[in-house]
Amino acid sequence: MTAEEYSAIHDFLEQHCGIRLGAGKEYLVSSRLGRLLTDNGLSSYTELLQKLSGFSGRQLQTAVVDAMTTNETFWFRDPAHFRVLAEHILPDHKSPSFRVWSAAASTGQEAYNIAMTIGEARRQGRLAGSCRHEIVGTDICTGALSQAREARYCGLSAGRGMSEEQKRRFFRADGDCLEVAPDYRKNVSFREFNLTKPFDSLGKFDVVFCRNVLIYFSAERKADIIKRIARQLNPGGFLFLGSTESLNGHTDLFEMVSLHGGLGYRRR
Ligand SMILES: C[S@@+](CC[C@H](N)C(=O)[O-])C[C@H]1O[C@@H](n2cnc3c(N)ncnc32)[C@H](O)[C@@H]1O
Repeated sequence: MTAEEYSAIHDFLEQHCGIRLGAGKEYLVSSRLGRLLTDNGLSSYTELLQKLSGFSGRQLQTAVVDAMTTNETFWFRDPAHFRVLAEHILPDHKSPSFRVWSAAASTGQEAYNIAMTIGEARRQGRLAGSCRHEIVGTDICTGALSQAREARYCGLSAGRGMSEEQKRRFFRADGDCLEVAPDYRKNVSFREFNLTKPFDSLGKFDVVFCRNVLIYFSAERKADIIKRIARQLNPGGFLFLGSTESLNGHTDLFEMVSLHGGLGYRRR
């Protein structure tokens, strides 16, 4: 891959979905896009780039984004966030509906874990029986979303982060795979969505999980997304970021809350 080709792929990704690869990641691009070249009968990255900007480039753009996104996730990642949801947010919730956004849902584990946490909280009387709940999972990666909708996890992705007891409680075993039980699927939906685009069509939320995605973006884009998330949150609503991420300011919009060894940000 030439320096020009790398730079053009880098720019395409940043403009299209905010992801900044940084310098010297040629190996990453060739390991993830090499197969796509072969499958599409393309002889070089230059040809790929020409096709990307061409009239019928949309399908190829999706394939490049799918290949270049990192979908790493696992069950009950950063468990403190789910405890805060169960023990502090849900018991305080008074309005008749409760909406949560899993803003970089990947293959769905985060969204289903939110549903499982709400289901348990209901059984324990921590959320009013009459309160309707909805979880919206969004991601830019269409391949990850297909798996999320299927709700069926095999191999390493099945058990990672989950105890045997949780597996029995929240899933139906299907051979070597685990399928999320219908109770934890019925209020969860998934939708393709790019975080660099306006959020208005998504409606308002009580809680937003936007974890382990802003690390891929520039400081300016991250600040813009955080500001726009604040607008989608109902007053007093919560934002959770990944454990290695921070708000970098924005104390005018959010108050930091530290509970159970995890951090959350409450909309002022
Ligand atoms: C590392 S995963 C995080 C999954 C989950 N939130 C977690 O913390 O385990 C990052 C996800 O962000 C998604 N992503 C990257 N850029 C995006 C964008 N511009 N809009 C929406 N999703 C994006 C990727 O497709 C990927 O599935």
